[in-house]
Amino acid sequence: MKKIGIGLIGLGTVGQGVATIISNPNDRHPLVGELELVAIAVRNLQKKRDISFPNSILTTNPIEIVNNPNIQIVVEVMGGIEPAKSLIIQAIRAGKSVVTANKAVIARHGEEIANEAKAAGVYVLIEAAVGGGIPIIEPLKQSLGGNQITKVSGIINGTTNYILSRMDKEGVDYADVLRDAQKLGYAESDPAADVEGSDAADKIAILSGLAFGGAINRADIPTTGINLLEAIDVTYARKLGYGIKLLAISEKEKTQSKNQKSQPLSIWVEPTLVPEDNPLAGVNGVNNAILVEGNPIGQVMFFGPGAGSGPTASAVVADILNIAGIQSMNKDKTPLNLDPLLSAKSWRNCHVAEGREIKKKNYIRLIAEDTPGVIGEIGTIFGQKKISIESIVQFDSSDTEAEIVVITHKIKQGQLEQALLDIKKLPQVKKIAATMGCL
Ligand code: NAP
Ligand code: HSE
Repeated sequence: MKKIGIGLIGLGTVGQGVATIISNPNDRHPLVGELELVAIAVRNLQKKRDISFPNSILTTNPIEIVNNPNIQIVVEVMGGIEPAKSLIIQAIRAGKSVVTANKAVIARHGEEIANEAKAAGVYVLIEAAVGGGIPIIEPLKQSLGGNQITKVSGIINGTTNYILSRMDKEGVDYADVLRDAQKLGYAESDPAADVEGSDAADKIAILSGLAFGGAINRADIPTTGINLLEAIDVTYARKLGYGIKLLAISEKEKTQSKNQKSQPLSIWVEPTLVPEDNPLAGVNGVNNAILVEGNPIGQVMFFGPGAGSGPTASAVVADILNIAGIQSMNKDKTPLNLDPLLSAKSWRNCHVAEGREIKKKNYIRLIAEDTPGVIGEIGTIFGQKKISIESIVQFDSSDTEAEIVVITHKIKQGQLEQALLDIKKLPQVKKIAATMGCL
């Protein structure tokens, strides 16, 4: 049997993991032995790597991969938007299937890429783009297809979960743990994407598109990262019986009218207090967990390593094998259009609801003068805005200042914004120091 030619664009954390699997086929699925690494594009030929290849198969020009007639599957693991997006499209137009781990490209240009792939009769598979090694894309596309999905939520960034877990358990400094996450290959080349929440927003956009069947405008997703999180909030959360996790949440809003043209979805990314007995509270380190809720399945949770070389390569190679399996069965090269990502284009119109419409519980930390009656005044304002309070606690106070933590019941964010505007005007309130979500 003729081997299936693979072209790798990128030989960094993920690329080296993929090359390691393909170069060591023993005890793996027999199709791994049918794959041949034909060419690999890198930026720097001189760079020392964990796995080495003869210079004859390395190139600094990724276009050579796209145009190489001996390559049937192009694996894009270089990252960034451009030239990655253009290379994916050129590969598709050259009749090659593509496997990519690039959530930034798919979240912004997934629909265009899917349309190109459909027109060319090739596959674009993206399992590694969300959840690292966790199979979540194929389950959403296939195994859960019979469900009316109502909510997808969870921890979908390994770097930030690693940072938060170590800050919570070891009390270590944010900047030091971030450096460790970079050394371990978890972080993006610009880690701002991780810590500012944009990577998680890319991923929840992709998951929402698959779960709810419509293109999601990535730019509409309200996003807050962990970069402004203060250690004091981790401590207070713990005292109140919560851990803090960066959660991405996407849920279908109940619509009044059956004639509504577009399904509103509440989608957001935010550091969130998670009760200690919630399964997400036990998801630590680089692990991710994604909870899918729907009818009739109820709840199903996907858990595992969310970043890193081996786990991500496991997902990339699974996609390569899916395409290789289909190609080896389909020798007459008839284009098979089995991929729902290609055929499901907008079976529903969806739009991201305004941030003010999001309904959730909230954690608010205020710094106020430690004077009699201040808690009462804050409580009155919440009451005037019809916000019901679950708890209000005063933490360590100095001679003059008190830290007051409020946890609300589920309310619309518009209500909270209004209340905080009034609370800020109270002469005793010095600062609204933090606001977060709360489960
Ligand atoms: P990385 O370690 O920075 O590797 C990027 C690779 O691409 C490097 O080998 C680099 O070459 C090569 N490259 C970059 N620009 C190039 C260009 N213009 N021409 C040729 N080669 C170029 O990144 P990574 O962590 O493997 O991530 C790759 C992709 O996977 C990203 O989209 C990322 O979001 C996604 N992803 C990563 C993980 C993870 O855990 N790291 C998990 C899931 C998804 P040099 O080595 O010569 O610099
Ligand atoms: N930087 C990403 C993360 C890689 O930490 O989750 C996996 O997508």
